[in-house]
Amino acid sequence: MNDTVLVVDFGAQYAQLIARRVREAHVFSEIVPSTITAAEVRKKSPGAIILSGGPKSVYAVPAPSLDPEIYDLGIPMLGICYGAQLMAQQLGGEVANTGVGEYGRTTLTRHGPTVLMTNWPLTTTAWMSHGDAIAVAPDGFVVTASTPEAPVAVMEDVVRRLHAVQFHPEVAHTEQGQDLLVNFLHHVAVIAPTWTNSSIIEDQVAAIRQQVGSERVLCALSGGVDSAVAAALVTKAVGAQLTCVFVDTGLMRMNEGDQIEETFTRQFGVDLVHVKAQDRFFSALEGVTDPETKRKIIGELFIREFEEVARDLAKDGDGPRFLVQGTLYPDVIESGSGHAANIKSHHNVGGLPEDLSFELVEPLRTLFKDEVRRVGEELGLPSEIVWRQPFPGPGLGVRIIGEVTRERAEILRNADHVVVDEIKKAGLYRELWQSFAVLPAVRTVGVMGDGRTYAYPIIIRAVTSDDAMTADWARLPYEVIESIANRLIREVEGVNRVALDVTSKPPGTIEWE
Ligand code: XMP
Repeated sequence: MNDTVLVVDFGAQYAQLIARRVREAHVFSEIVPSTITAAEVRKKSPGAIILSGGPKSVYAVPAPSLDPEIYDLGIPMLGICYGAQLMAQQLGGEVANTGVGEYGRTTLTRHGPTVLMTNWPLTTTAWMSHGDAIAVAPDGFVVTASTPEAPVAVMEDVVRRLHAVQFHPEVAHTEQGQDLLVNFLHHVAVIAPTWTNSSIIEDQVAAIRQQVGSERVLCALSGGVDSAVAAALVTKAVGAQLTCVFVDTGLMRMNEGDQIEETFTRQFGVDLVHVKAQDRFFSALEGVTDPETKRKIIGELFIREFEEVARDLAKDGDGPRFLVQGTLYPDVIESGSGHAANIKSHHNVGGLPEDLSFELVEPLRTLFKDEVRRVGEELGLPSEIVWRQPFPGPGLGVRIIGEVTRERAEILRNADHVVVDEIKKAGLYRELWQSFAVLPAVRTVGVMGDGRTYAYPIIIRAVTSDDAMTADWARLPYEVIESIANRLIREVEGVNRVALDVTSKPPGTIEWE
């Protein structure tokens, strides 16, 4: 038995949220597909299993099911929503399509004391989202709470340590949700809360040392959070063997290169190759206006620059054998459970040059983004790096509509700095998914002082999002928009007008190209 919790994914987006909530209770969690067999579970020997919710009815054909032998392994289990109904159905209870579902906040009434709901008030608010409901609990289970439309809202078999809740403890609207998960993990399954930032760091440092031995390691820094935290972990593990490469494409945000150099060279003492490739990027992009062609040119040139450094380092016959990648857990889950094949290179400048044969070091493979940020803080990375909003691999290149020139990149970099600076001052930077400036390929007429101007407009783009798949335009306060606009006109030469993008995704995309 180990301290890992398996979260069985029944197909909604809830599994990731459950996995994160479990980790917030300082217990490591791993998401597994619902096709997992009892033998596979036994091999993993988890401390507990949580069955997630899902979009299907247990009566749908086909409905995802669970290998019933898993219930007999003696491992504590918690079924949530669909997972609860499935547990009821598979163990001999009854699930009914009541015709009256419950969606949203519901009052949960508890009947008597239970370990899951220790010291709760008699009634609390729970978040529901179900059409079917458990009508009869299986033998051995006691019904310990109900709601108006779900007579069996919580059922428990304390002897077998099988528990099921119809509501969603993982969502914030369920008042005692986290408390229920904590009680299940710490008091029912008796798993110690040992998954902390320092334990993550210790484990990863040991794993990196074990993997790379005394070989040399190469890492491409992009300026973003993931590569920076991955590099910081490798620094802690085998700093003397690490070489970092930062390719300045001329399309980075203001001070990005200096900050990387300051942090990794001066603070961490890492060997950093800072490639100042701006000229080569601008000349490769001359006259190019098509977005995908730009992406391709930037991506390919990046790899060429990177390869050149790698080749230089290998000249003495003792080049790096390992390459650090900042792959995160959501990438691993989404691309299946395969291994090194799942590199996200399509969309990612800083991706792997395919014909260089490196072995990958991926110290963030098990982590969610918020965990990566906390680990980064703990490793001493500056908060400007740790809390940086996502930035596309091709950088400002996909925010400069039309031709990318040195002059236009400079205008956009200055404008972007103003937008970000004002958003930060307003305290909005962390709650926005992305906020930046876009430079269109038109110029407009204006008046400034006595003269007529003919200059570029800047578009303010700010969005909220959870995962970049969908996004909403951010309702920035008028005062913030006003101060951004004033400063853009006053401080950024070449700009005489400001517009605000009020398009959500879909139908728009977050970037303009
Ligand atoms: P869109 O514009 O498609 O962007 O809504 C979704 C997310 O992806 C980022 N993005 C990119 N990232 N290379 C990247 O590494 C790219 O070519 C690229 N294009 C968009 C974008 O910033 C947003 O976070």
